[in-house]
Amino acid sequence: AVTVKQIFRETETFLNQKLEISGWVRTIRTSKAFGFIEINDGSFFENIQVVFDESLDNFLEIGKQTISSALRVQGTLVPSPGAKQPFELKAEHVEILALAGGDYPLQKKRHSFEYLRTIAHLRPRTNTFAAVFRVRSVVAYAIHKFFQEKGFVYVHTPIITGSDAEGAGEMFKVTVLDPANPPRNDAGTVNYGEDFFGKETSLTVSGQLNVETYCMAFRNVYTFGPTFRAENSNTARHAAEFWMIEPEIAFAELADNMKLAEEMMKYIIRYALDNAPEEMAFFNKFVDKTLFERLENILNSDFGHITYTEAVKLLEKVNTEFEYPVHWGIDLQTEHERYLTEKIFKKPVFVSDYPKDIKAFYMRLNDDNKTVAAMDLLVPGVGEIIGGSQREERLEVLENRMKEFGLKEEDYYWYLDLRRYGGVKHAGYGLGFERVIMYLSGMSNIRDVISFPRTANMCEF
Ligand code: 4AD
Ligand code: MG
Repeated sequence: AVTVKQIFRETETFLNQKLEISGWVRTIRTSKAFGFIEINDGSFFENIQVVFDESLDNFLEIGKQTISSALRVQGTLVPSPGAKQPFELKAEHVEILALAGGDYPLQKKRHSFEYLRTIAHLRPRTNTFAAVFRVRSVVAYAIHKFFQEKGFVYVHTPIITGSDAEGAGEMFKVTVLDPANPPRNDAGTVNYGEDFFGKETSLTVSGQLNVETYCMAFRNVYTFGPTFRAENSNTARHAAEFWMIEPEIAFAELADNMKLAEEMMKYIIRYALDNAPEEMAFFNKFVDKTLFERLENILNSDFGHITYTEAVKLLEKVNTEFEYPVHWGIDLQTEHERYLTEKIFKKPVFVSDYPKDIKAFYMRLNDDNKTVAAMDLLVPGVGEIIGGSQREERLEVLENRMKEFGLKEEDYYWYLDLRRYGGVKHAGYGLGFERVIMYLSGMSNIRDVISFPRTANMCEF
């Protein structure tokens, strides 16, 4: 059997050959003597058109198939000048594998994304979601390829953690389901009590602190895994469970970090355009008509760079545009970030050197004692896509910062050890995987780029 993808990619090889394909009906039209079925076999974004006629002994039965019925078709691939594709499969034998119920929720009409979220188990069968999730897969591979080609070591950091990496207190606690009936060891005697681990634990908000330990051994490393945040904000860009890519580089400073991030972003965009051209063309046609122009523009220009302090000066001049006016010291809101990248720079822009009080404890203190060596990458349409920093490698400075944040040294002794035993300058960042898929597809809600979204009040499927 051959796949529809092979047929599209190597049409010359298969033309006028006998082939067999199996897949699901996407559309079906019949008349008295013949009919057309568009079949998707799951291998490719495009469907293949099958023509069948009354010479088949089960002609009438084939005509009764509905959307999502499963068929196996044997036939010859023939040229078809009239159709939107230059070829079609002329059926010689059609086997009905599964007839779909007539109440199938995805009938041939446009459904809203809101409705499709309520049937997240069926939505990958639609064109939009087929494109989104195929691109998601391609981009995941591109990210691994990018870092592996550079010799980075992929580290699996834990999901269950005993420390809050971001200090933002947005963690989900881990507990045993039935505290009255706790787990026991083999002897049946040890009672772990309410807390299995003997201490309070949570789901990780970031693998960074763990990956830093491997950075001090392997030099260049990355994680790529799920992270969890009890974000109360009900926005189109925040999920309670999302995937993050976190590289960490040793003997490196903030400028090296930004350079790596820019190179990675361009690599990913190029890779998606080259390796998922049909899906990307679909987005450009149906989701965001300026997508290709925007992406090409990025590939051909250097990202912008501005410090937080400079950005605040620029934004203060247009404070009347904002719901929340800007002044030095505030955390930039989405409206400010989008103004910077969409109105002022009109391209991706790094904002660096934020006030120390609004950033995490591990970021390297600058000489002004007021700002830290942090950087966010903002992109048009999405806003913040990357957050990163150079890390504080000086033991005493880090200890002081931890005191300011009210963090206990005994909880982070292993993190401090990295500074005691050959701690060198290092830096890293986190790329929100869903945000990058939004950016590449033009999809405007994070719920539509993750297979089964988890957000406040939503954990279906
Ligand atoms: O800026 P954040 O919080 O940075 C960190 O977690 C650092 N430890 C990363 C590092 O330096 N290794 O998160 C990084 C990125 C954000 O820029 C955003 O793209 C994404 O993760 N992100 C979210 N994506 C979806 N839903 C959420 N609730 C997100 N929170 C952060
Ligand atoms: Mg951030």
